[in-house]
Amino acid sequence: MQIKMEGIVKKFGSVVANSQVDFDVLPGEVHSLLGENGAGKTTLMKILYGIHIPDEGKIFINGEESFIQSPRIALEKGIGMVQQHFSLVPSFSVFENVILGLKSREKLDKLRRAVEEIIERFHLGLDLDTKIWQLSHGEKQKVEILKFLYRDVDLLILDEPTSALAPSEVYSLFDIIRELKSTGKSVVFITHKLEEVFTVSDRITILRTGKKIATVDATSVSPQEVVKMMVGEYTIIEKFPKNIGKEILRVRNFTVIGDRGTPAVRNISFDLRAGEILGIAGVEGNGQRELAEGLYGLRTYDGEIFLHGNHVRINSPQKALSYGIGYIPEDRFVTGLIPDLSVSENIVLKSISGTPFSSKGIINREKVRNFSEKVVKKYRVSLPSIWAPIKKLSGGNAQKVLAGRELEAPLNLLIAVNPTNGLDVASTEHIHKLLLKTSQNGIPVLLISTDLEEIYKISDIIVVMYKGKLTKRIEALPENQELIGQLMAGVNFEKYL
Ligand SMILES: Nc1ncnc2c1ncn2[C@@H]1O[C@H](COP(=O)(O)OP(=O)(O)O)[C@@H](O)[C@H]1O
Ligand SMILES: [Mg+2]
Repeated sequence: MQIKMEGIVKKFGSVVANSQVDFDVLPGEVHSLLGENGAGKTTLMKILYGIHIPDEGKIFINGEESFIQSPRIALEKGIGMVQQHFSLVPSFSVFENVILGLKSREKLDKLRRAVEEIIERFHLGLDLDTKIWQLSHGEKQKVEILKFLYRDVDLLILDEPTSALAPSEVYSLFDIIRELKSTGKSVVFITHKLEEVFTVSDRITILRTGKKIATVDATSVSPQEVVKMMVGEYTIIEKFPKNIGKEILRVRNFTVIGDRGTPAVRNISFDLRAGEILGIAGVEGNGQRELAEGLYGLRTYDGEIFLHGNHVRINSPQKALSYGIGYIPEDRFVTGLIPDLSVSENIVLKSISGTPFSSKGIINREKVRNFSEKVVKKYRVSLPSIWAPIKKLSGGNAQKVLAGRELEAPLNLLIAVNPTNGLDVASTEHIHKLLLKTSQNGIPVLLISTDLEEIYKISDIIVVMYKGKLTKRIEALPENQELIGQLMAGVNFEKYL
């Protein structure tokens, strides 16, 4: 099957997720779609799978213009997509999930045999009668793949299929991909992991902030060149002179275990001084999230944290709060805010149980209102009412509320993780100014971001995170750009530890 997407544009409100993207897939090829978080990879493939309708652009299948208005139509045309979030019924068996929604007149035992043949051929190692809830993440993924193999798709799209797999499961997934390829089927493999890209792909397309940067043969580029295409090159803006003061945060021998039970952060040490913004650069999935969550008490850690010279043990977000640590996460509606509560309730969320907002369990509504109105005004949040559920706000406005709440509390340290992910230009600018102002007020900021432009724009010092390790401190100077790109790809990394 040959697919051509031409001039694809897709906007979500003011966010341009895809901007005039051209993309094509050849028969029997593995085509990797690579780009940082928010680059527009999922959106582009959801358009091909009929989940999103593009605002502009055309899709051609084997030369013929096609309108893919739903996943059902995509399937009829031979396109399947395994999404990041699976759509299996936990209480059903593997077999029941595979045949779910199929209108077939075949006898059940005949269907079973057909499904079993596919399991054999692709070495999936699945048992048809096991219930989904009994399976590991990797096995569930195989069931998703099996569903599409049974429907005999010609193109299988896999959206970040390796992000929650153990290494051995990754190998077995790659075997499936090779097997698909050998039967002439095409695979689009979405990832942000460079090594994987070079292991399985024939061609690579790199997206950055919604735009296609290039499509290249995997054999004709080096990892460094690809990283450069992913993160781009940036001019460095003049920064305000700042007074870098005394050391405030000291982290020693910090280790955090990741979701797979292996260390995601490996025995790292670093310091942060008053007024400093330390940018942690890195391709997503190198332990950045686990580092932030460890420091904020969302994950257990090994090692030591000192604040103002005092040893602290941060084993919950409440503890982090009590030590004056503010946290701006990327998934604002998951970790930071409670979507169904009002803007006002979200603003006082962390401090409602004490003065000045309540006393002896009775809430002082007047104080809550005054404070919320002050925050909304100061952080220029546009909203219908402070009593509206926060989920009604745009991403940018919700993030301003969150930032306002964190910054209005007494702070010793601010941690920001991809704080402008998914925001439009104006909101991004606003958040950057807030971070700069915070540091100018003498509060150190730890900025963890996969957006190198963001890191360069506001950090004083950069360290690169790769496979759970941190480099030494590198000045955020133009002449170091090339080096930082290399380190992000793991090139010469050991030399800069
Ligand atoms: N359903 C949606 N509503 C609003 N914004 C969205 C939606 N889906 C994606 N976006 C935004 O579009 C941009 C691209 O997202 P996405 O395609 O998911 O990127 P990627 O898969 O490369 O991480 C991001 O800024 C994201 O926040
Ligand atoms: Mg995605």
